[in-house]
Amino acid sequence: MVEKNLDFRSDTVTLPSPEMREAAYKAAVGDDVYGDDPTVNELEATACEVFGKEAALFVTSGTMGNAVAVLAHTQRGDEIILDEKSHIYVNEVGGLAVMGQLMARTIPGEKGYMKPEQIEAAIRRENIHYPPTSLLCLENTQNMHGGIALTPQQMKSNYDVAKEHGLGVHLDGARVFNASVALNIDVKELAQYTDTIQICLSKGLAAPVGSLVVGPEDVMKRARKYRKMLGGGMRQAGIIAAPGLIALTKMVDRLADDHKNAKILAEGVSKLGIKVMNDVQTNMVYVDFSSIGWTAEDWNKACSDLGWKSRGYGTGTRLVTHYGIEEEDIRDFLEGIAKKI
Ligand SMILES: Cc1ncc(COP(=O)(O)O)c(C=O)c1O
Repeated sequence: MVEKNLDFRSDTVTLPSPEMREAAYKAAVGDDVYGDDPTVNELEATACEVFGKEAALFVTSGTMGNAVAVLAHTQRGDEIILDEKSHIYVNEVGGLAVMGQLMARTIPGEKGYMKPEQIEAAIRRENIHYPPTSLLCLENTQNMHGGIALTPQQMKSNYDVAKEHGLGVHLDGARVFNASVALNIDVKELAQYTDTIQICLSKGLAAPVGSLVVGPEDVMKRARKYRKMLGGGMRQAGIIAAPGLIALTKMVDRLADDHKNAKILAEGVSKLGIKVMNDVQTNMVYVDFSSIGWTAEDWNKACSDLGWKSRGYGTGTRLVTHYGIEEEDIRDFLEGIAKKI
């Protein structure tokens, strides 16, 4: 029985399944800093298999995963290239500057896709005056571009130009399974066009906490050391790795339901005159309710009256579908909103 969770704010609000709670209770544990936690070890080994990478690391959050990966790829004073709307650049508290002393070179990607020519132009050539460019960061799905899934071809075009110039490539794959499910491909097809990936277990996959970083042995060895430096050595972490294992092995296919529900939601609100701002490909619907003359307060109150959490700001909001929201809930929501307009 899936616990209802009528909350459109994000897929980070997902609640662990009963099976996850039970697995956490029963998990075999040890000291993970010594490499002794069998459940963490199993989770990391499974991640290597799923993504076709040499090594994996269990971390507390997506932000920590991106941080340790970026630090492991770079040296103080390097420049890194990212989309101007990427989560690492916009929403990770400037960690790349604070912890890595890195310069950020941003590119305005189109629907999350940075063209190879844009990347090529942004890579610094050898010059006594320039900082070296050492890393390209991609994001898939692209959160602030509407949950768009980059295709393997798009990722390859970015990866190839990075490799021509000797750059590392890191993928913020917080929702990389949303991409592989939307594109109906094995996640390895995306994983082959990046060196490292950060994958969130605690978003659509519904684990209570945690992310994974996967990549080549040498980079991941440095990432593990950075995790310890940042206070991420978690000791008996099997308790949280156990739900993570269920997330990784059993919760991926159901993301297709979230994508279907997002499309139903987008079509439904659109019929009511509420403008949909993005191509709905995965689990995100960006709406502008000023098209029906509503303010954020009107929207938030209407949702709250109907028993939903949503956070309108300005003239719109992002609605995210996830575990805990069923198709019938979306239909009830649409009926409720229709009555309030
Ligand atoms: C694309 C993307 N990357 C990284 C993160 C960071 O994850 P966490 O909240 O676990 O730090 C998020 C969180 O929403 C995200 O959307």
